[in-house]
Amino acid sequence: MKHLISPLDLSVSELEDILNLASEIFNDKKKYSDICHGKKLATLFYEPSTRTRLSFEAAMLNLGGSVLGFSSADSSSAAKGESVADTIRVISSYADICAMRHPKEGAPLVASIYSSIPVINAGDGGHNHPTQTLTDLFTISKLKGRLDNLTVGFCGDLKFGRTVHSLINALVRYKNVHFVLVSPDELKIPAYLREEVLDANHISYEEVKNLEAVLPDLDLLYMTRVQKERFFNEEDYIRLKDSFILDAKKMSLAKEDMLVLHPLPRVNEISTEVDNDKRAVYFKQAEFGVYVRMALIMKLLEVA
Ligand code: CP
Repeated sequence: MKHLISPLDLSVSELEDILNLASEIFNDKKKYSDICHGKKLATLFYEPSTRTRLSFEAAMLNLGGSVLGFSSADSSSAAKGESVADTIRVISSYADICAMRHPKEGAPLVASIYSSIPVINAGDGGHNHPTQTLTDLFTISKLKGRLDNLTVGFCGDLKFGRTVHSLINALVRYKNVHFVLVSPDELKIPAYLREEVLDANHISYEEVKNLEAVLPDLDLLYMTRVQKERFFNEEDYIRLKDSFILDAKKMSLAKEDMLVLHPLPRVNEISTEVDNDKRAVYFKQAEFGVYVRMALIMKLLEVA
């Protein structure tokens, strides 16, 4: 059985299969409307979510399947002390596939060990968010036409931002991708990512603090929210939360075809005046999440 816990659980060719299938679904939205008839998706969300949980549910409903689940730890027996291992053993007899979000790094991996159905990591703490990565890769590939030969800026909370960690892990497998990592010192990427992924694979990257200085070089800018929920003290959060705000003036420094991505939710880091700029594709990106999750469910349930 196959699970999706880390973006690297998929080979480049499996990843391309999913992106191609997502593209087919995008082009013909009705074609697979009954392919998961009789199948059930469980969404086990121990942490808040709008896009990931609802796009998973929309994906399964679009495929003709059904959904069940919970949207907070408090509304499940986790509140009474039940372990992830016991929960997934039970859910395995209620559903055919599950998507799990958990504040603890590694919880979906633990679930996959005890599960008899495919487990999809829908975000684990500050670690990984592989289905956001599929969404990001689909967005880049569809709107930029390639996943290689790119200068990619990541800006904001690169320490706790799991979407950043997952996307860097995925993009290092493509040729000639240069990373520009824009953050305050306190929110730089974790050492393991710098040493074991970027340095170990001789990937070209720079770490900087000034967004304006690097904006003209970028093909993509991946903005991120400062992750309030991962901070140990509020003072640090308040000091760092508005480190970078992308506005129309800054956008005037960027290339005409630079894309602005953001996994959302947004707080202050992108001014709403940027939303009408044709380069701002974050709402399109959120829409694309449904198609890649449809493709992923089909692949893991082996109906495609
Ligand atoms: N991008 C993302 O994971 O959004 P949610 O937290 O709303 O699911």
